[in-house]
Amino acid sequence: MSADPSSVSALPRYSRRVVEERDAHAELLADFRAGMLEAPRTLPPKYFYDARGSQLFDAICDTPEYYPTRLEADLLERHADAILEASGARTLFELGSGTSRKTEYLLAALEGRIAQPHYIANDVCAEILDEAGGRLLQRFGHLQVDSLCGDYAAALAHLGDVSGSPADGPRLFAFLGSSLGNFEDAEAAGLLQRIRETMNPEDRLLLGLDRVKPRPVLEAAYNDAAGVTAAFNLNLLSVLNTELGADFDADGFEHRAPFVEEHSRIEMHLVARRDQVVHVSEPEARLEIAEGEAIRTEISRKFSREAVDRLLAAAGLEHETEWSAPEEWYSLFLLRPGAG
Ligand SMILES: C[S@@+](CC[C@H](N)C(=O)[O-])C[C@H]1O[C@@H](n2cnc3c(N)ncnc32)[C@H](O)[C@@H]1O
Repeated sequence: MSADPSSVSALPRYSRRVVEERDAHAELLADFRAGMLEAPRTLPPKYFYDARGSQLFDAICDTPEYYPTRLEADLLERHADAILEASGARTLFELGSGTSRKTEYLLAALEGRIAQPHYIANDVCAEILDEAGGRLLQRFGHLQVDSLCGDYAAALAHLGDVSGSPADGPRLFAFLGSSLGNFEDAEAAGLLQRIRETMNPEDRLLLGLDRVKPRPVLEAAYNDAAGVTAAFNLNLLSVLNTELGADFDADGFEHRAPFVEEHSRIEMHLVARRDQVVHVSEPEARLEIAEGEAIRTEISRKFSREAVDRLLAAAGLEHETEWSAPEEWYSLFLLRPGAG
């Protein structure tokens, strides 16, 4: 992880700007107040991703159990040229880009078509954006990389700051890693709708979604034997300790991630191993957490075909092409904005 974000920011083909609509700390405070003061406790998953959380997510992707990254990478490697051909894109804009490791397949295909390709990366984690930017500039000699640091909504609102000239279009929007699965139906449809509203008629969206599959495969992926996902989940407590002056004791909680068939999703929880009291300085609070009580830290939905079609219809997006892994264990959908 780059400890010195200024070094890459000084490069001529790289920029990073902060695009939070609301101060990130104020947002965490509001989410903590809304979700954590009483049971059932929950927080949005974007708070996992401080520098250490991003590093741990990257390590999850390398565990033998975590199939989504490998299946998606394989699809991108095999179909990147077809995706770029079908989209006709000159610019790639990616939401929640993380390390942009898989994105390199798309960028290689883009570089094959365009003399001066443009990549706009968005993530909540500044360190991961700078690290990825530095690596991509080394690999792709003519690439311009602009990073938008903030959440999805803010990046969509500020996309015009870095893209919009005719030379930039058409654009391929990418939302990979099944990150859409972190949202319940209404929120997911709302986010897709925001994406559609930001797209020009000739832009396309590449959406990577994890699909329904046997429970043992799903549960193994979120309960890897080396304990990397557990460390990632527990890291949220140290984010809260640092950001809110809390005194969560990570040893007092254990990671659990069952597949909840009724909702077709993995739910990640931190379950209290004993009765405990947690003090928080900002907002000033005293949380009494009983043994066995769970804090829900993430949902990761597994999509049936019907669920995908319902969501896309609600958001006004239409199918153009798709590519799926064997047995439809993972799918990439290329979508266009509907007329409405
Ligand atoms: C599950 S990882 C996926 C990373 C990468 N797209 C991949 O497919 O491997 C989710 C990424 O989105 C970022 N992220 C999470 N919530 C976000 C939000 N609300 N807005 C912007 N980025 C977010 C995280 O920092 C992380 O890099």
